[in-house]
Amino acid sequence: HTAVGCQASVATKYMETDDIVDLDWENLGFGLVDTDFMYMAKCGPDGNFSNGEILPFGPIALSPSAGVLNYGQGLFEGLKAYRKTDGYILLFRPEENAVRMKNGSDRMCMPAPSVEQFVDAVKQTVLANKRWVPPTGKGSLYIRPLLIGSGAILGLAPAPEYTFLIYVSPVGNYFKEGLAPINLIIEDNFHRAAPGGTGGVKTIGNYASVLKAQRTAKEKGYSDVLYLDAVHNKYLEEVSSCNIFVVKGNAISTPAIEGTILPGITRKSIIEVAESKGYKVEERHVSVDELLDADEVFCTGTAVVVSPVGSITYKGKSSSAFQGRVRWQPRSRRGLTAAIHLADKPPDGPHRGS
Ligand code: COI
Repeated sequence: HTAVGCQASVATKYMETDDIVDLDWENLGFGLVDTDFMYMAKCGPDGNFSNGEILPFGPIALSPSAGVLNYGQGLFEGLKAYRKTDGYILLFRPEENAVRMKNGSDRMCMPAPSVEQFVDAVKQTVLANKRWVPPTGKGSLYIRPLLIGSGAILGLAPAPEYTFLIYVSPVGNYFKEGLAPINLIIEDNFHRAAPGGTGGVKTIGNYASVLKAQRTAKEKGYSDVLYLDAVHNKYLEEVSSCNIFVVKGNAISTPAIEGTILPGITRKSIIEVAESKGYKVEERHVSVDELLDADEVFCTGTAVVVSPVGSITYKGKSSSAFQGRVRWQPRSRRGLTAAIHLADKPPDGPHRGS
């Protein structure tokens, strides 16, 4: 845990009160709630990002010919801040997101902020919006860093200017099922990613491409879609917005990171926690047959945290043999182990969930 008390003054510079906002915390889903401030830094052709600024949250100006609008040159990240019972605000492994953005920026031909700038920017943004961090146990503050080709470009080429932005929103459960098991359908006509593509980086285009299958699945009552590999059409890849784990006996298996699935930070944390608890974790090709024969299945992601899977539908048949056996179901959404202190002293005022 790293204490960074000096940052606490950033928020009070902008807001007169530390009191938590009055929201319907019990019914918080995963939807945008406008907050007070956002962070913005720019980077020109020299490849260096300016010192960022905390600005009022709101629309940004972009040329119609911005690289991100025309050619999808953009990356995003997702991480969360949690309020502890003692009032401290914790960030969950922000350096991991910084490193992932840096790795992705290379694939997308973009400059990236340094790990230090990324983490500092996240802290500034959270502190400026700290009254929006939900009371303990009532959700979290979702943090959405964006790196976009904001410069105008017509021919296909990297944009001449980049913008690094961060906004936040208080969130509750991602799936409408809440903590109850979700129901997935396996998609075998559409693929999310192919070898050599961009499936392993968090580029915005990966997410637009899953919307059609996701909409069809939701219309049929499923929670989300599970994708298979594009070469054999039989090994698990990931769900639209999260990674997947399959449990059989004492062994936990999850698709290996080979460039087509996102290297999730919650995925990595779960592997570390599971191994430390004596489980055997295998990162490898996991077939649909193994999935259907599993004792237990669960998904991990920043937005979904750890979501148990109640049923899988494949080629019109549903398998729910593992329903109800959900050892990995979290009792709360308060995050895992590794986090850093955002302030060295709890804010004044009410900060505890009832
Ligand atoms: C996250 O879990 O942070 C994600 O990026 C998933 C997003 C599609 C909601």
